[in-house]
Amino acid sequence: MSLRRSVLSVPAVNIRALEKTYSLDCDAVIFDLEDSVAPERKAEARENLRAFFAATPAKDQERIIRVNAPASTFGKADMELVLALEPDAVLLPKVDEPQDVLSVSDRLADADAPESLRIWAMIETPRGILNAAAIAEAGRTPGSRLDCFVVGLNDLRKETGVLPQPGRTYLVPWLMQVVLAVRAYGLDAIDSVFNDFRDAEVFDAECAQARAMGFDGKMLIHPAQIEAANRHFAPDASAIAEAEAIIAAFADPETDGLNVINSNGRMIERLHLVQAESLVHKARLIAGRQTAK
Ligand code: COA
Ligand code: MG
Repeated sequence: MSLRRSVLSVPAVNIRALEKTYSLDCDAVIFDLEDSVAPERKAEARENLRAFFAATPAKDQERIIRVNAPASTFGKADMELVLALEPDAVLLPKVDEPQDVLSVSDRLADADAPESLRIWAMIETPRGILNAAAIAEAGRTPGSRLDCFVVGLNDLRKETGVLPQPGRTYLVPWLMQVVLAVRAYGLDAIDSVFNDFRDAEVFDAECAQARAMGFDGKMLIHPAQIEAANRHFAPDASAIAEAEAIIAAFADPETDGLNVINSNGRMIERLHLVQAESLVHKARLIAGRQTAK
């Protein structure tokens, strides 16, 4: 399990912001070569990333490089850079169908990229949403490296005409389709960015909504959004206490051979145990990060 509560995007042209990411408390950083970088500055962005990776040791913060469409001229150069820098993952934009992932899996295998280099997919087109389950299933193909979906609502709104509205009413069915697809095939899902980075109140509500929908974390555009994402996507104290109680209850030898037990007037099932163990594991990872600081 990796912590992916706060996944901060940073345009690779912005050296000051790049350097800043190292000291920020986000779980992961997406170094963007795609839409936040103007066409005439793509080469400069790649050189910035090369220098940044050379100068900055890896730490307990996943590093993801978002490339341009891998078959495009920019994308080919970006993939060369990914192979040279060996980040934790390459993030593919505008994934429409399983083949978009599998052709990159093949490219990485041909180049003998280390197994640790995973593939993340932006789900941000109408076809990407319609094919979310088939794309997630591609993660079952041996050697596919698929690990995580990131929803991109800016592109999706542009392609569909859905307006940005409080509560994201008309987008929720599509967001839930993405969550269902990742759960069916054992991937993670990161919710879309929220553009108005000075509006802490609406951002807070959107994090709470994403957490309730089952997302693992949120893609961020600004350091001011990190604290709220870390808070919302972490298990709270009462959830941890409850999970520990479930683990303790099933550790009692008297529950051997029982799949359901009475815990203070509430039924708990052995299936809750797996969930409880993963929640406690996540809480320990978070506590470990806080002590390491
Ligand atoms: N990562 C790291 N640091 C960031 C950052 C980011 N994404 N966004 C802003 N910062 C830093 C700034 O460099 C600035 O640092 P400084 O005080 O040391 O100079 C500080 O945070 C405050 O920034 P602020 O002045 O509030 O914003 P800005 O005008 O510099 O930047 C944006 C605003 C939106 C241009 C910028 O946040 C950004 O580029 N975000 C990411 C966009 C992106 O990746 N888009 C693609 C995915 S949708
Ligand atoms: Mg996009």
